[in-house]
Amino acid sequence: MKRARSLVAVVVLVLGSLSSAQTAVGRDAAIEARVEALLGKMTLAEKVGQLNQYSIERKTLDQDIAEGKVGSLIYVTGAEETNRYQRIAVEKSRLHIPILFGFDVVHGYRTIFPIPLAIAGTWDPRAAQEVARISAVEASAAGIRWTYAPMVDIARDPRWGRIAEGAGEDPVLVSRMAEAYIRGFQNKDLSQPDSVAACVKHYVGYGAAEGGRDYNAVDMSEARLREVYLPPFLAAKNANVTSFMSSFNTLNGLPATANPYTLREVLKNEWDFRGFVVSDWNSIGELINHGVAVDKRDAARLAMRAGVDMDMNSGNYIEYLAGLVRDGAVPEAELDDSVRRILRIKFALGLFDHPYIEDKREASVQLTAADRAAARRIAAESLVLLKNEGDVLPLKKTGTKIAVIGPLADDASTMLGNWFAKGQASEVVTILQALRARQAQGDAIVFAPGGEVTKSTARDIAAAVAAANAADQVVMVLGERGDMSGEAASRSDLGLPGDQEKLLETVVATGKPVTVVVISGRPLVLTWAAEHVRALVEAWLPGTEGGNAVADVLFGDVNPSGHLPATMPRSVGQIPIYYSALSTGRPVGNDARYFSGYIDTNNEPLYPFGYGLSYTTFTVSDLKISPATANHGEIKATVEITNTGSRDGSDVIELNSTVPKGELAHPERKLVAFTKVFLKAGETRKVEMIVPRESLMVADRGEKLQVLHGTYRFFLGNEKRAELEASIDIPAPELKTVGAKSSIVTPEKPAPKHTD
Ligand code: BGC
Repeated sequence: MKRARSLVAVVVLVLGSLSSAQTAVGRDAAIEARVEALLGKMTLAEKVGQLNQYSIERKTLDQDIAEGKVGSLIYVTGAEETNRYQRIAVEKSRLHIPILFGFDVVHGYRTIFPIPLAIAGTWDPRAAQEVARISAVEASAAGIRWTYAPMVDIARDPRWGRIAEGAGEDPVLVSRMAEAYIRGFQNKDLSQPDSVAACVKHYVGYGAAEGGRDYNAVDMSEARLREVYLPPFLAAKNANVTSFMSSFNTLNGLPATANPYTLREVLKNEWDFRGFVVSDWNSIGELINHGVAVDKRDAARLAMRAGVDMDMNSGNYIEYLAGLVRDGAVPEAELDDSVRRILRIKFALGLFDHPYIEDKREASVQLTAADRAAARRIAAESLVLLKNEGDVLPLKKTGTKIAVIGPLADDASTMLGNWFAKGQASEVVTILQALRARQAQGDAIVFAPGGEVTKSTARDIAAAVAAANAADQVVMVLGERGDMSGEAASRSDLGLPGDQEKLLETVVATGKPVTVVVISGRPLVLTWAAEHVRALVEAWLPGTEGGNAVADVLFGDVNPSGHLPATMPRSVGQIPIYYSALSTGRPVGNDARYFSGYIDTNNEPLYPFGYGLSYTTFTVSDLKISPATANHGEIKATVEITNTGSRDGSDVIELNSTVPKGELAHPERKLVAFTKVFLKAGETRKVEMIVPRESLMVADRGEKLQVLHGTYRFFLGNEKRAELEASIDIPAPELKTVGAKSSIVTPEKPAPKHTD
């Protein structure tokens, strides 16, 4: 092992802290004064108008806007279009209040980056921030100043297609990514013309839908809600996010869009959130389907009373809210509070002072060479190398004949994923195009699609076998089409769709070395492939530059450094499966038969959360946690990492801890901090991480979060490093609850429910 140099890299996690130029939402006195002055002039109808969002489909938009009935528009894009509607609002409506234009800019606007699940796989919040910044520049030039991102739903069930849109299964990883997206979108100063207000979604619990079926019911304990599902939202709030979106699902029987506990009590009171809450698309109207509202008027009343400030496209607020206030069913003070929240963000965005978009900027800032380069770099960083038997990868650049096989090798639209905004398939570089472009001799690549994603004929498979037989190496590009994940795209079978498994098995039977590049919006079940192919690369839905990114990794120009942001199951029956499971009374190994397991498979996933290989190797040593007794103040971890291979590369260090014994059972392992380090071949670095108190907290009494006292054992994430351990003691009592106004409670007395 060569030790090139040793230096200390200090990694300071920015825990949602605001940059100095940014004032927390609702704390700018000048803005608050302008809000109050305007509110004082508004009629009841004008107030309700601010709470109403219509989409481009509304037939009478011009007139509605002129009459002050539209606070926001969704799906109107482009400088010309947004300016046209904005002119009506600013010049024709009585109070000249500008419109807030919202759009889903989730992983790019025109330059499409990999899906958010893939970006989480970089374990590099800087990548998420860069994606959001570039997206904000492109979108804002097209008049969009509000985006419905980041999605921070914890997803532990890959049957749920929307796992693609979030950052995976772990609250710490999802929180760090959420903060980074918000920094990127909102930038230092929201009033700058290229800043975009972010909206975290879907509040709350949406990812825990029963059976992985989209929009389905969610039932969970208060402890799980507090420990797992709420923390990314709190992190977003602390990072100054401007808005929240209420979700479609029921939570413990109550639809999230009509839930005064989560919306008013937790978000607005306990956390003191001063931005606004928007419903999800028609989720107010759907309160009738849920069986909690008798009619549309009742739906408007329930959502308003619960704390939803803006109605996304159900039309129920604009139709019934004024009447509800007049009848005393909704207090006017509640309506005023909602109006204030929305106006506050419009002022903060500078919309009153600069309502229009500079027409000429739009084309010149989109899909620039620099944006493409960033998309390629980030996509390459998101690829996860799962297997590389006999170092079959990287591929040789010359002198090898490569058969490219699979229905997704040349599928441009799939590369764009599920929220591709203004991304164009014609602008995508497919994997086949990229491999062809890079191959030195024009004739070295042979291509056989092997059929379509959902079916292959015997002829398709025979042509693929012939291509494989004529080649030295086979690269198969298999998986799901872009529209097979995302919203309303739940799957009950997570194998390769159609006849792709048969195609794979037949090609592997040729005996040629096969590398499989997996295209998917979720972890698939790839058990057969993992056993039989030589190399396996998870490429997700990698975006506009996805083909180049895959080629960069396959040929070794980029050393893979992605790690799984969600567990990859070995069978659908294991789902939900995640690394931070609770203990059971009958763990594996306790008894030959009567343990918590399956009789037809084991409990282990195919690949665990955090798994990912590299073309180089790393060793870690000397894990230290300080101070040894940590009642208050910062907890620091240091570890030495060495690149012991012959290539430069990046590794992810995941720091886990156990939770001491409490009143409730707690996960046996919790991620508490992580960092990604780049090391030249042979280089050693000492890396320092700050362990945020929040990541040690659990809801021991099923209520607010607290740090338990006792011994915390820290260890690194990757199995092969499990022998590195360090512990600290947190003495009693440190039961500091997390809330708007934190309180100290004694260990003997349980905190009363929902105190401040
Ligand atoms: C989705 C949201 C999205 C909204 C607006 C809904 O169907 O659930 O995530 O932001 O549509 O497009």
